Amino acid sequence: MTTAIIGTGGIGSVIARHLASGGETLHLSSADHESAQTLAAEIGRAAVVAVDNRDALQGADAVVLALRFTVLQGVIDEIAGPLMGKLVVVPSNPLTIDAQGNVSRVLPEGQSSGKVVAGWLPAGARLAMAFGTLSADLFESAANRSPEPAVLFYVTDDDRAGEEVERLIRRAGFEPVKAGGIEQSGRLEVGGDLHDLVVSPAQARSLIGGA
Ligand SMILES: NC(=O)c1ccc[n+]([C@@H]2O[C@H](COP(=O)([O-])OP(=O)(O)OC[C@H]3O[C@@H](n4cnc5c(N)ncnc54)[C@H](OP(=O)(O)O)[C@@H]3O)[C@@H](O)[C@H]2O)c1
Repeated sequence: MTTAIIGTGGIGSVIARHLASGGETLHLSSADHESAQTLAAEIGRAAVVAVDNRDALQGADAVVLALRFTVLQGVIDEIAGPLMGKLVVVPSNPLTIDAQGNVSRVLPEGQSSGKVVAGWLPAGARLAMAFGTLSADLFESAANRSPEPAVLFYVTDDDRAGEEVERLIRRAGFEPVKAGGIEQSGRLEVGGDLHDLVVSPAQARSLIGGA
């Protein structure tokens, strides 16, 4: 199947490489066109560079918006039409970094980033918050772990989105575990209890149950 990756920076490139290794066909798009081209060349025949963000969605079953939280709404508005009927996967943490390198949350304490993103999406798009729980380095080292796979947590309110994101998580070399509905997205983000954890499926289920 085909997945569009919009944003080929730190996390988008790692997600793209692992999905392609797992057999997914990719359409890549980024404001940094050169990084999308370099990544496509590295991946080979499984990846093509789209002309722009809307073009990336043509023929794609799903899209990963591997973008900083502060640009997400603008890109969603730009691609709203083609998003209808698709799985939308968002790994973004609701953070911003100032010129001095200070990181701060862009949403009020306790407000669910997943709920905010859901409010930006057009009707008919199916949202899962996923692929943002591990730093790029941890993602790289934990993928395709054996004998027991490492877990990637996700949240969604939509059963079909759950099935679809589970397929993508497996393709990327992890075992999917649902941490709850979209309002639980705070558990996955930086500062959340499930962020940057490399755990087995059994450990993951006990963490979910113990919450
Ligand atoms: N990096 C990680 O380890 C990691 C891990 C988990 C979650 N996350 C989350 O994932 C999100 C992305 O992080 P990142 O580290 O990958 O950021 P990043 O390295 O800055 O990558 C973002 C990419 O999006 C592109 N972009 C910006 N505006 C765009 C637009 N309008 N259309 C298409 N592409 C656009 C950027 O291009 P330009 O560079 O040209 O602007 C860049 O290639 C963040 O919310 C972060 O919290 C990151």
